[in-house]
Amino acid sequence: MNILIVGSGGREHALAWKLRQSASVNRIFCAPGNAGMESVGTTVPLKATDLDGLLRFAQDNAVDLTVVGPEQPLVMGIADVFQDHKLVVFGPTAAAARLEGSKVFAKDFLYRHGIPTARFGSFDAASEREAEAFIDGSSLPLVVKADGLAAGKGVVICQTRGEARIALREMLEARAFGAAGDRVVIEEFLAGEEASVFAICDGERFVTLPCAQDHKRILDGDRGKNTGGMGAYAPAPVMTQGLLRRVEEEIIRPTLEGMKKEGTPYRGCLYAGLMITEDGPKVLEFNCRFGDPETQVVIPLIDGDLAVLLHAAASGSLEGMTPAFHEASAVCIVMASRGYPDAYETGKVIRGLDSADLEKGEIVFHAGTRREGDAIITAGGRVLGVTVVGYKHELEATIDAAYRLVHRIAFDGAYYRSDIGKKALKHLQSRNL
Ligand code: AMP
Ligand code: GLY
Repeated sequence: MNILIVGSGGREHALAWKLRQSASVNRIFCAPGNAGMESVGTTVPLKATDLDGLLRFAQDNAVDLTVVGPEQPLVMGIADVFQDHKLVVFGPTAAAARLEGSKVFAKDFLYRHGIPTARFGSFDAASEREAEAFIDGSSLPLVVKADGLAAGKGVVICQTRGEARIALREMLEARAFGAAGDRVVIEEFLAGEEASVFAICDGERFVTLPCAQDHKRILDGDRGKNTGGMGAYAPAPVMTQGLLRRVEEEIIRPTLEGMKKEGTPYRGCLYAGLMITEDGPKVLEFNCRFGDPETQVVIPLIDGDLAVLLHAAASGSLEGMTPAFHEASAVCIVMASRGYPDAYETGKVIRGLDSADLEKGEIVFHAGTRREGDAIITAGGRVLGVTVVGYKHELEATIDAAYRLVHRIAFDGAYYRSDIGKKALKHLQSRNL
């Protein structure tokens, strides 16, 4: 198979790295890719949102499977365009990608199908009065969310009704998120621990991958601004086998059945962002793609040919497929540029990236990097996903090994959290594991 991977982050590098190990894979193209992906495939200077260019490239280069990383091209309809031209693409159609592209659509869908999620209301400029009444009638804290894609910034957690009213006005009147905020969801705050579950779906059937936990805030202790994700580990002990069965039966299966019934079957990776509450798992959000940085810790745990799995899902034939997983744990620590998630610096030379120095289980996934002559330099907010795969029952040792690897890499202004995986250790200690 020749594969085209669309995107340029750590997630796409992890997918490319794993697909490179597939016996069934011949050529790998990455559009646009990054400096790290040059070692596993051929980078192609096409933007992830250049649907026409990507289509032409796939046709001209005998691409057998296109794997789409980010949400924008999916919401724009890349899967529809490729399918119309008889190309196999891993990722949902635009209609199915609305599960991520519109929070109002996703919440209405969850309610219609009785899938557990936070109580909510949805409003637009014409119903701002009703929104204020909803705020007055709800208990605190409240969460105000822009309907559309807002690069992870469209969610405001409000401790007071005043804050909720301000967030509402910023979205509906000041249009802080443009058209993405023309409609808003206001929902109850769910207390608990978060977890990310990826289901590989073929429109009817699915398989789940080991559960991961992300670290969304910029500072240790889950403080500070929201980011794309500052680190992850898998498998996450918060998700016991029993809870995972509930997620499959109460969330993933009814979602696939509902999407099929409504004429928009879901193919691709369904990312369920969950809150594990006292009443069980509830959906915080759906994403229509793999998560980043969760992919960097989930994909290395798969024992088998990823290309075969993704091709089967993309062509509606997952039946009988049961992927195996390594008896391992994985930890990824994101090294980011000073300033991230606000304005950040780029163009810094990264030292310590010689792959010859890597030991077994160590992988440095690139995100915002670029080659300049012989040097690799920073070119984004999240720069590297420094990852270690270790023994399953030795998560603490895996975390320590990941930090040792971080300490061998340096660039001016490098920032990373120092508490990745701490929550997992608490679970394991309380269970005496
Ligand atoms: P979302 O983009 O909807 O996942 O929201 C981003 C982050 O906001 C989530 O990862 C949670 O940390 C937080 N969040 C969103 N909705 C809620 C909620 N209803 N209760 C508590 N936290 C939430
Ligand atoms: N890590 C969160 C996301 O991919 O949306």
